[in-house]
Amino acid sequence: MPQTNLYVDFPGQSARPPRRAKLDAERYTSPDVMKREWDAVWTRSWLLAGLASDLTEAGDYFVFDIGRESVVVMRTDAGDLAAFYNACQHRGNRLFTSERGSVAAVTCPYHGWTYELDGTLKQVPDAERFLQGLPCDRLSLKPVQVECWAGLVWINMDPDAAPLADFLGVVQEQLDPYRFQDMVLVKDQTVLLDANWKTCVDNFNEQYHVDFIHPQHASFVDCRDAINELWPFGHRRVLVEGYVTNPRYGVPEEVPPVLRAAIEPLGLDPDDFRGRVLELRKAVQQHKRRLGEQLGFDYSRFTDEQVSDILQYDLFPNIVMTIKPEELWVMRPRPHPTDPDKCFFDKWTLRINVAGDRAEGLSLVGDPSVRVVAAGERPEREVFERADVVEGRRSMTITIDQDIHYLQDMQAGMHSRGFSRAWLNDDEARVQHFHDWLDVWLEGTPVRQDTAVGQAAE
Ligand code: FES
Ligand SMILES: [Fe+2]
Repeated sequence: MPQTNLYVDFPGQSARPPRRAKLDAERYTSPDVMKREWDAVWTRSWLLAGLASDLTEAGDYFVFDIGRESVVVMRTDAGDLAAFYNACQHRGNRLFTSERGSVAAVTCPYHGWTYELDGTLKQVPDAERFLQGLPCDRLSLKPVQVECWAGLVWINMDPDAAPLADFLGVVQEQLDPYRFQDMVLVKDQTVLLDANWKTCVDNFNEQYHVDFIHPQHASFVDCRDAINELWPFGHRRVLVEGYVTNPRYGVPEEVPPVLRAAIEPLGLDPDDFRGRVLELRKAVQQHKRRLGEQLGFDYSRFTDEQVSDILQYDLFPNIVMTIKPEELWVMRPRPHPTDPDKCFFDKWTLRINVAGDRAEGLSLVGDPSVRVVAAGERPEREVFERADVVEGRRSMTITIDQDIHYLQDMQAGMHSRGFSRAWLNDDEARVQHFHDWLDVWLEGTPVRQDTAVGQAAE
């Protein structure tokens, strides 16, 4: 059975874009396209900026850099979130240069202008020398829209943007059971890549490459029969069965090594499944529910599919979330300030925080011997380059490392006189959908619309 592609509307909002985008090389390489994306996408769309867990106390802040822009998100004295451009209103100096921290007030290091935590201008040295006055409404920090959902903090530079809930539609409701706000950040990584941000997004939106660059996947997921859902605004979702093997290769007699490593920490014996590997998925669903009770994690809010399978939500423009009940990966390619051939690729790894987990050698989140971060500790962000991954000094897990290996060659090939445009197959429908909607955004911010137009999923 091939992959299935489904358009899924939000209430009152069609998922179907008006036309099919042409994926020409210029789209990935041109400074002009980069500029158009800045004006129509990055400054108009909701963007996942950071984690609420970094903003627990008044004065806690983080900085979100995107393209040439820098936005500060702050916890105010009133306990709210405030976001503003990271630019002093005196002469424009960047206020914060560290990525995260805590302050009593916002003080510009250049001439000492001071702002309240909500951005209101508070104090100016030698105020009497400003003979034209210091109008507070004109000189407070310039605000940016901010919203928090499930512990994830989003910003929007468009003051007229519709609320985040309109943009995410059914996504919030579907993902609420996972309670990301209760998960703990255990790894925070950024790698600089010689690839356009869309080259990265595309990579995570098809499984056509999996057999070739991720051969280990054949032994623990079924990418052949995945279901791709194509949503409004350019969002996508894919559902992939876990704890199975790829039927393209037949069912092995023994539980393959990657699956063994996944089920042993759960306390399941791979040898019990010799000759009946296909029964493993069901067994894991039942076993995790029992083990969860023992270790203090409640699986009752999840469907059987959610317990065993892998969901990936691709949220427009640049978020890829790989989701299991026990672990969330957020991957976020951010455009480089000036170079369309580069991007910053972030990966956050969040895990459930279960007190009893890892007891008696059992763990719901993989190898119990790996303690990535001590309890209550926030991991420092690791920043590195592709060479660090390729030469084995850093890893974002084997699968992502394999992707990172190839992305610069994808980008390089698109510069060739011998390449003009991509030629996609039906299993690459999420790639096409992303670009179809990117074109809608480039032509003007999408608004809610009731009329379905366009062609069937291709
Ligand atoms: S630029 Fe900030 S106080 Fe002068
Ligand atoms: Fe991949």
